[in-house]
Amino acid sequence: MRSTVQQRSEYTFKANRSLGRHGWLRLTPAYGVKLVENLLSSVDTTAIILDPFSGTATTGLVAAERGNQAFAFDINPFLIWLGNAKYRNYNQDCLRDIREKVLQALKEYKSQIDRDNWIPPIFNIERWWSSYTLNLLASLRTALVREFGEPEENEYSIVWIAFCRLIIETSSAAFNHISMSFSDTVIHHKTEFIEELFLNIIEFILISAEKNIVGNAKVLKADARDLISLDNIKVNKVITSPPYPNRISYIRELRPYMYWTKFIDEAKEAGELDWLAIGGTWGIATSRLNSWKIAEEALPEKIFATVEKIKMSNGKNSRLLAIYVLKYFHDMHLHLSSIRSILENGAELHYIVGNSTFFGNMVDTPALLADSMKVLGYSKIHSEIVRKRNCNKALYEYCVSASWLAG
Ligand SMILES: C[S@@+](CC[C@H](N)C(=O)[O-])C[C@H]1O[C@@H](n2cnc3c(N)ncnc32)[C@H](O)[C@@H]1O
Repeated sequence: MRSTVQQRSEYTFKANRSLGRHGWLRLTPAYGVKLVENLLSSVDTTAIILDPFSGTATTGLVAAERGNQAFAFDINPFLIWLGNAKYRNYNQDCLRDIREKVLQALKEYKSQIDRDNWIPPIFNIERWWSSYTLNLLASLRTALVREFGEPEENEYSIVWIAFCRLIIETSSAAFNHISMSFSDTVIHHKTEFIEELFLNIIEFILISAEKNIVGNAKVLKADARDLISLDNIKVNKVITSPPYPNRISYIRELRPYMYWTKFIDEAKEAGELDWLAIGGTWGIATSRLNSWKIAEEALPEKIFATVEKIKMSNGKNSRLLAIYVLKYFHDMHLHLSSIRSILENGAELHYIVGNSTFFGNMVDTPALLADSMKVLGYSKIHSEIVRKRNCNKALYEYCVSASWLAG
């Protein structure tokens, strides 16, 4: 049966690029609009939708676009800011004002190129941009700050989203692998190229911002392992994709945006943030694993058995990776426990997750999360394969579903 399962790019971030607001900024681990639409197809617009791992806000945006009220949580301040910018309605005056100010900034920045403009403290920045391109970007940023102020949660966020697109599209970052890498050369971009590209990006974003959102949504800052209450609101449907136990770090892909928008100021902050992320593995997050102590012992037995196999294998760092896997399922168990307090009786949950392998040992993520759900009192638990993730490995994406029937 598995050999016939397809990769289905319509269920990944790739399909979102042409879908208005969904295409504003890429994040490789984002899932496709179509997947969320399918899961919402039988839900009426009075249902309250929740995504506890918001990312690029796909769930909340699909829900709000069809008229539902939605809430989302994330721990990454940049993604919270991005999500709330996607959920906002922009009036015509505001969009006109943005167009005029952008043209003004593009007029001004050229005379500032040789000045001492602020440059983000990104490690090895010369791998990302040639010094010439970097000066153009820094000068344009200074001119944009003069017109719009520094990035914050307001109607000008969309200009900064366009700037994020510009910096990534002029960088040597290559996205042809599952995680980001660098191409061998950095390019010197001409001023005309930068201006035309920025205007094209701005126009793409402004046109999609013209379409009003009929429902409403909000991303809130919260740790999914210890969720906050929604002022007594209970949710009817959860559609989400938490991190997978595959050591992929969101910070790695988000770093350039977060530095340029000043959501992080130094490398240490990136590591601290990844330590808060479930499955985080960047910088300090990896070294902290060594001394991590389990807080919740009542995990399903199968989790400990999987971890033990990884620990006993001969691979390099097998002990550390065994702790990594244990912490991942431990944190997901805390999350599944915590979310119960904001679920309406009869709420349905859908978790899109991936399996992984460590030293040849399969980590059966859907089965282990289903076991946690069982221990925590969920019912109607079942999972199905959504798509194949990779052409040569046994890696799949699954939808693990359950219901919450309060006792
Ligand atoms: C796979 S991504 C979600 C992608 C999303 N479905 C989309 O379409 O963009 C997982 C998200 O979970 C967030 N996250 C990780 N650990 C978290 C935690 N402890 N609390 C809240 N959010 C967390 C990450 O910051 C990331 O944005």
